[in-house]
Formats: sequence, C-alpha cells, structure tokens
Amino acid sequence: LFEQVQLAPPDPILGTALAYKADTSKDKMNLGVGAYRDDNEKPYPFKVVRKVESQIVNDHSIDKEYLPIDGLAQFNAAAQQLIFGKDSSAVKEGRVITSQAISGTGALRIGFEFLAKFYNREVLVSNPTWGNHHDIIKCSGLNFKQYRYYNPKNMSLDFNGMFTDISMAKPGSIVLLHACAHNPTGLDLTEDQWKRLAGLFKQNRLFPFFDSAYQGFATGDLNRDAYSIRLFTELGFQLIVTQSFAKNMGLYSDRIGAFHLVCANKETAAKCLSQLKLVIRPMYSNPPAHGARIATKILTDPALYNEWMEELSMVSKRIIDMRTALKNELVRLEVPGNWNHIVTQIGMFSYTGLTPEQCDILINKYHIYLLKNGRISMCGITTKNVGYLAAAIKDAVVS
Ligand code: LMR
Repeated sequence: LFEQVQLAPPDPILGTALAYKADTSKDKMNLGVGAYRDDNEKPYPFKVVRKVESQIVNDHSIDKEYLPIDGLAQFNAAAQQLIFGKDSSAVKEGRVITSQAISGTGALRIGFEFLAKFYNREVLVSNPTWGNHHDIIKCSGLNFKQYRYYNPKNMSLDFNGMFTDISMAKPGSIVLLHACAHNPTGLDLTEDQWKRLAGLFKQNRLFPFFDSAYQGFATGDLNRDAYSIRLFTELGFQLIVTQSFAKNMGLYSDRIGAFHLVCANKETAAKCLSQLKLVIRPMYSNPPAHGARIATKILTDPALYNEWMEELSMVSKRIIDMRTALKNELVRLEVPGNWNHIVTQIGMFSYTGLTPEQCDILINKYHIYLLKNGRISMCGITTKNVGYLAAAIKDAVVS
C-alpha cells in the first residue's frame, strides 16, 4: 500500500539534535536547535518552573478535566497582558481575542488556518526566516513571497530592501514579521524603522502578523521586546500575534503559547473567537493544561514573576557573554573576516555568514552541529568549548 512513499529528509533544525545525539565524539557541539544550555552544555529547566510544578503536583484540587477549546482563561489573560502591556487600550476595549496554543508553531498554524478561511491573501515572509514558517503557511493552503531582510555583503539588516519589497506587495497582503530577536539573523529594526514600516502598512493597508518567540531575549526587557507589537496595536492596526513560552520560560516540551487577534471592535472579536474554535476543535480539540498552569502562576504571582525575571536575565547574560567570548577567540586566532556581527546580533542565534561548504566541514570534521545556512545557537557554546569552535571555524574558513 505504501511502497511508493519516499523517505523524507530529516528536519533541518530538529534533525541536528538527533544527529548530535547519535554522534559519539567527545568533542561534539550542539549548535543547531535554539534551546538554552548552561555552561556545562546541559539543558536548564528554570528553578521557578520546578518550584511551581511541585506546587501543581501537590495541589489535589487540580483535576484532569478538559480545558475549553481556547484553553485556560487565566493564562490567556496573563499572556495578553505580557505581550500587549497592562495598559493596552485594545485589550481594555475587548477587541483582542486570545487562545492558548500548542506553543509558537501551534499558534502560527491556527493563525494561518484562520486566515486561509477568512482572509485568504498572499503572505510575505522575510528572506531568510525560520524554516518552519514556509511549511506552516503552505500547509494552511496560503502562498508566500519573500521580502529582502538581510544583506550578506555587510551582514546587516537590509531595511531599504525590506521597505521596497513590502511596498510592492498587493494592498491587503499579510506580512509576517518577527517581533524581536529575528530568527535566524539576530537583526532587528530600530524603533524608528518600525515606525516607518507602520506608516507603509497604513498606506498600503497591509495586515501585520507578528511572531513573538523570543520576548525577553532581544533587549533583556520584556516590554521593550514587545515594542513593535505595541506600536502597531496602539496605531489601530488589526493584527495577529503568535506567542511562545518555550524559550523565555524554558517550557520547550510543555508546548505552551498563545494566539492573539486584534479586531476592529468587540462584536467582531466575539465572532472571530467563535470561528477560531471551529478551526481548533478538529485539529486537536483543546490544549494541554500543564504548561498553561505553570505560566499562569509565574505571570500572576509577583514573587514568582521576579524570580523568573532574575533567571531570564541570567540566561540572556550567558548568551551575550558567549558572543563576546567567541568573537574574541576568532580575533585572537586571526580568523580571516570581520566577526563584529557575532556581538552585534541579538537573541539566541548568530547568523555567522559561514557557507554551506564551511558548515559541512564543521559538522563532518569537527562534530559541530549547526544549520546549513550558517546559523548557530549561541546557547550551545560554553567557556570550555568556545576555543574548539573558534579553531574549527578557522580551519573551515581557511580551507
Ligand atoms: C529553532 O529555530 O531552533 C527553534 O525555534 C526550534 C524549532 O522548533 O525549530
């Protein structure tokens, strides 16, 4: 029956974790998937998460009933406040609908499914973008085009290219934007550039779709990292936000995120929520509760929130330290090229500028797993392996 089925290639991102696991070299490095590691290359479950989890496990008043289709109401309210701010007029006016989602990917998927049903327009995505964006959009039945984002010549943001390409989109097009800590480039717009972009969106009646997977990882300040979303919302745009707690709470496997739709008014919002539930119900019925309970407690208890903030800043500081360490080591080894971008890029990743051939050398000769587009997760770098990585990059670059 299934003999004609072809073997599919491994996932370009998640596949690197499997290849790393299967590798028996003592020198191996896991720079593929964007998941935080400590200075001993070990996953780091947040202490505040562990604490809240033990409270949940010991609370026998918590049952295992189904959640509503749109998830835990308290979580939705807390997630809304985190991303739109506690003074958001759109939230106060009841124009924002929120549904708990199966992390960022699940939120993206229900978002594009909803758009395919009710706002079937061409989608524009940055070149490059997170690889899974392409597949999610295609699976939802929409088509996408790319807008320029990255200038490989000087490894910087190509804002003029981005602006020009978006200005040529058909009026009403959906434009996917990374709210902060752009994946994979680590290059974000300045506040002034966001304002100019908002003007263009107004003029051409474009629909903003913000993917927010790294709030807290760009500037270290949750409010500043939500700047773009809050700007567009306050300017009166109807828009979508997909939000993930995988990175900023380290809740990767709990699959906890949210989908938000800002509508023109409360009445439309209520109708859209009823339709969103019809999108979700045949897909997965309703979301799992555990991650939502953890995130809700952390977001709504001031003491736990502060503990979370401390850990989040510790985590982002280690990433920044590793940027400096890697750049210094590359300079010390006199590796040809300019490595400044390693420290100026932000978020979890560095878009190194290494070619696919150079990446192959790192993978095959040095057991250093990274993406073929040259993206490395800074989280896999430690004070102990940074020297090995820099030497391997040198070999790859001069080969
Ligand atoms: C990544 O880009 O590495 C993460 O978002 C993990 C994933 O699901 O791809």
